Amino acid sequence: MTDNHTRNETYSPGLMKGKTCFMSGATSGINRQIAVRFAMEGAKVFVMSRSQDKVDDTVKELRGLGAEADGMAVDVRSYPDVDLAIQKCVELYGKLDMVLAGQAGNFVAGAAQMSSNAFKSVVDIDLLGTFNIYRAAVEHANKPGAAFLAITAPQATQPHMFQSHVCAAKAGVNMLTKCCAMEWGKSGIRVNAISPGPIDDTEGMKRLSGSPAIVEKYKQGLALKRMGTKDEIADAALWVCSDAARYVTGTILEIDGGTVLGDSSMAMEL
Ligand code: NAP
Ligand code: COA
Repeated sequence: MTDNHTRNETYSPGLMKGKTCFMSGATSGINRQIAVRFAMEGAKVFVMSRSQDKVDDTVKELRGLGAEADGMAVDVRSYPDVDLAIQKCVELYGKLDMVLAGQAGNFVAGAAQMSSNAFKSVVDIDLLGTFNIYRAAVEHANKPGAAFLAITAPQATQPHMFQSHVCAAKAGVNMLTKCCAMEWGKSGIRVNAISPGPIDDTEGMKRLSGSPAIVEKYKQGLALKRMGTKDEIADAALWVCSDAARYVTGTILEIDGGTVLGDSSMAMEL
């Protein structure tokens, strides 16, 4: 490590050597960093999102790291298309060792101001999309040992104004995580979720943060007084999907600098 929150890019011990990963929403931001980390650790990675350009660009980056990588442009809201993408991945690489449902949609809008279709869009991308991926992938899971991972958010447990659609969708993702963990544990499939706090340099933060002054005030309210990095979420994903976490299932891992603890702005330096 080069400091307390940055990974040295040459670090690559091969924790995921030969593992087959299907990753939805892994063509930008946090999920793309997860794809990069898994590829650096020796995984074969199949990425899926709507934009063909973003899929192509990500596949190019992963192959550039020496990984076997492929992808398909698919909207997660269409079950037949998701099923097709997963079948393609299995055809190429064989059974699935890891499945990521990281896709999401977000915008700031009041419940009285957004349309029914606006609310539905986010619930369908985040919650139905996660179900679609898990439902299509589970029959191809490498049992025992497969790891399923969703990316949720603090909005799942903390009500936020102008985020009713996201709060409802992510609360559903948390419950889906726990129900699938209970149903599939007997077959040796683990199902977990990561709840990131505010992560620097992401589309999500761009959509949610206001002026620099508001961002600074927000950071001061966090226990750790800074935003997280994409790499910190990728590290958590790597751990929870690896054998090091083999007794962990149904867990919502809060990698959030203390976000859900509440306001820490009154803390004094020791
Ligand atoms: P992002 O860069 O916008 O990533 C979203 C990904 O989902 C993209 O690859 C996007 O690609 C894909 N996607 C969106 N709609 C889709 C659809 N209908 N079908 C298939 N793929 C779709 O976002 P991010 O900020 O890194 O967030 C990543 C995850 O972390 C999300 O689950 C988010 O809720 C969670 N999170 C983020 C933060 C944060 O601070 N950023 C905090 C807490 C939780 P296409 O455009 O090509 O479809
Ligand atoms: N405020 C209120 N309503 C909004 C909105 C906003 N900022 N942005 C979109 N909507 C509404 C649209 O008006 C539409 O409703 P309508 O049919 O009643 O007019 C509905 O949401 C769907 O919009 P559309 O653009 O057709 O949806 P889409 O499926 O192409 O895109 C979104 C989905 C809206 C979530 C889009 O922002 C997206 O693709 N996001 C992905 C990236 C992202 O959000 N990253 C952050 C992750 S944390």
